[in-house]
Amino acid sequence: MKILVTGANGLIGKKIVKQLVSNNKHEVFATSLKKMQLEGAQTFTSNLQNADINNLIEQLKLDAVIHCAALSSPDACEVDRFVCKKMNIEVTSRIASACRDYSTYLAFLSTDFIFDGIKGDYTEEDAINPISYYGESKMQSEEMLKTLGIPHAVIRTSLVYGYEEKLSRPNILTRVVQYLGKQQKYRVPTDQIRTPTLAEDLAKGVITVTENKINGLYHIAGDTKISVADFATTIAKTFNLEESLLQKVTTRELSEPAPRPLNSSLIIDKARKDLNYNPTPLAEGIAIVKSQMNL
Ligand SMILES: NC(=O)c1ccc[n+]([C@@H]2O[C@H](COP(=O)([O-])OP(=O)(O)OC[C@H]3O[C@@H](n4cnc5c(N)ncnc54)[C@H](OP(=O)(O)O)[C@@H]3O)[C@@H](O)[C@H]2O)c1
Repeated sequence: MKILVTGANGLIGKKIVKQLVSNNKHEVFATSLKKMQLEGAQTFTSNLQNADINNLIEQLKLDAVIHCAALSSPDACEVDRFVCKKMNIEVTSRIASACRDYSTYLAFLSTDFIFDGIKGDYTEEDAINPISYYGESKMQSEEMLKTLGIPHAVIRTSLVYGYEEKLSRPNILTRVVQYLGKQQKYRVPTDQIRTPTLAEDLAKGVITVTENKINGLYHIAGDTKISVADFATTIAKTFNLEESLLQKVTTRELSEPAPRPLNSSLIIDKARKDLNYNPTPLAEGIAIVKSQMNL
């Protein structure tokens, strides 16, 4: 297959490209905003907000697009709704229209922040009700894809952790290691419940969906429900860092620009059943990342 991965400079995009290349079955193309090099893939920089996406998809004669590019920081989305709308709604819509015009399959990355976090343990059947603009932007794209009626999958994930060199954005694990490694305090919420996801597991699930051009909605996440504070503590323990530097606070005390769903844990039974998805246990996942970081 000829597959294009957008947002290939991000943690998830990078892991997807790496696995696609190592599977040695596909011709892999990768785009990002900043210049990057990914072995085995044809990479090019492109600002998707003003790129000729139709031309791109037509020229490359793609079988599938895995759309990871996004304004993925909930706080950035809340503060700059204009850019968030442009990137997370309009770009996705243009990619989807081009996929329709050139009969290209689309896998779209969405989020647990599409839920309000009151109930927790969300399945694909549960009603969505985003409380942040980031969640709202992903909801609008999910709904646009449903009405467009093209072959596509929506993959929702939760608190992805992992390591790659020169990441464009830190994640919870790299932040904890960075702050505590420098003996700096780091504030973590005790009341936000997530299902942390090892980036490699997610990449594998996304690739299974794409290779089989599966249509539908999937929750692809970890299988441990844990507070962000407890997850950070587990990371600190595994990396032999000073746990007392973690300042345990409530979401209200953190007071970040974007409202956070309290319990956005995802149920992954559908992915287990349909995709044979089997996530790495949390402790093992953190240990894997530790060894990747040579720490
Ligand atoms: N990470 C999580 O915990 C999580 C959870 C739920 C859902 N998701 C979703 O999963 C997807 C991937 O997440 P991620 O964590 O890998 O994100 P990320 O690290 O923030 O990467 C986003 C990518 O989008 C690219 N991008 C941003 N603006 C662009 C533009 N105007 N033109 C072209 N490319 C642009 C960035 O390129 P540069 O690096 O070159 O700037 C970057 O490679 C996103 O859709 C996100 O919403 C992530």
